[in-house]
Amino acid sequence: MTPRLGISCSIQLSYDRDGSNLHKNHIFLKTFEEICIRLKNNFSFLLGELLISWLRIFRFHSIIGDDFIKKPSWALNMSHVIAVINQKGGVGKTTTAVNLATALAAIGKNVLVLDLDPQGNATTGFGIQKGRGLQSSYGVLLGLVDPKEVAQETYVDGLSVISSTIDLSAAEIELFSQKDRDSKLKRSIAHLEYDYVLIDCPPGFGLININALNASNKIIIPLQCEFYALEGLAQLFNTIQSVRNTINKDLIVSGILLTMYDRRNSLSSVIANDVRSHFGNLVFNTVIPRNVKISEASSYGKPIILHDIKSMGAISYIELAREFLNRELA
Ligand SMILES: Nc1ncnc2c1ncn2[C@@H]1O[C@H](COP(=O)(O)OP(=O)(O)OP(=O)(O)O)[C@@H](O)[C@H]1O
Ligand SMILES: [Mg+2]
Repeated sequence: MTPRLGISCSIQLSYDRDGSNLHKNHIFLKTFEEICIRLKNNFSFLLGELLISWLRIFRFHSIIGDDFIKKPSWALNMSHVIAVINQKGGVGKTTTAVNLATALAAIGKNVLVLDLDPQGNATTGFGIQKGRGLQSSYGVLLGLVDPKEVAQETYVDGLSVISSTIDLSAAEIELFSQKDRDSKLKRSIAHLEYDYVLIDCPPGFGLININALNASNKIIIPLQCEFYALEGLAQLFNTIQSVRNTINKDLIVSGILLTMYDRRNSLSSVIANDVRSHFGNLVFNTVIPRNVKISEASSYGKPIILHDIKSMGAISYIELAREFLNRELA
């Protein structure tokens, strides 16, 4: 769907979702304005003045005339994009991205997992070979390939993956010198039409994660039920807040997910209670238990639901998908 704005003088602006036409049209308008100014200076004051005021009205309408056109079209998120993020390593981000995505696909949603971690664990978690060069999330992040072309179908119906590659570890440096370094990914995936895009984020707070936060509508924060769980969470919320204040004001937290909960270990319940008393409803009711089948599944390159649907791990991730969708409707 390409929304079009027709104007009386038979020029049409077409807004492709990647914003390239918008950019071209602005260049065209700028050049046109320069011609008008020259015309005004050199030939006819009145004709020049008329054209300039027409141009201002035209610009005004092209910016605010229609809901679709209020924002540059690349800013319209067609898919629901969810970043699975926590700067701490090993807390269950990848496991959550892989298994929540599978559970959502299993109930009929069209889902993409975007593996943004150079480690590529989400990629191998689906039994897919890591990408090479630009044909991966590296190319997508830098805006050098069409994500539709590099998305690979998995053996789960309705679930695709954009694989990661070790090249991603250089992306931070490559992005650094670029003017639009925070919004590269947002532009790149804006035209995707999945029900959900789940981004498996790397640990840390680099430019890859800033891009992920900017490109997302929502965040899921996996939190491992262990002693240092809360440490660093304040820093994560500060980062989220500064992203909201600057580049993505609509970003919200879908929920904090307690992972690797160990019933036999009283520390797990102490941590869980502590997190709930701090964050209340923000914490998902669903808790992911520590379950050996989960780590077993990833070593087979399979989501837990396909590895052992009766396991506690599979049941919890299906329950998480249900709760997540309920939250979406609330
Ligand atoms: N509920 C669970 N029960 C048992 N093992 C789990 C569970 N969740 C995750 N694991 C295992 O813990 C390890 C870390 O999990 P995972 O890779 O999902 O964390 P991560 O946050 O993505 O890590 P990183 O920050 O390195 O990307 C993996 O070996 C995974 O198989
Ligand atoms: Mg991971």
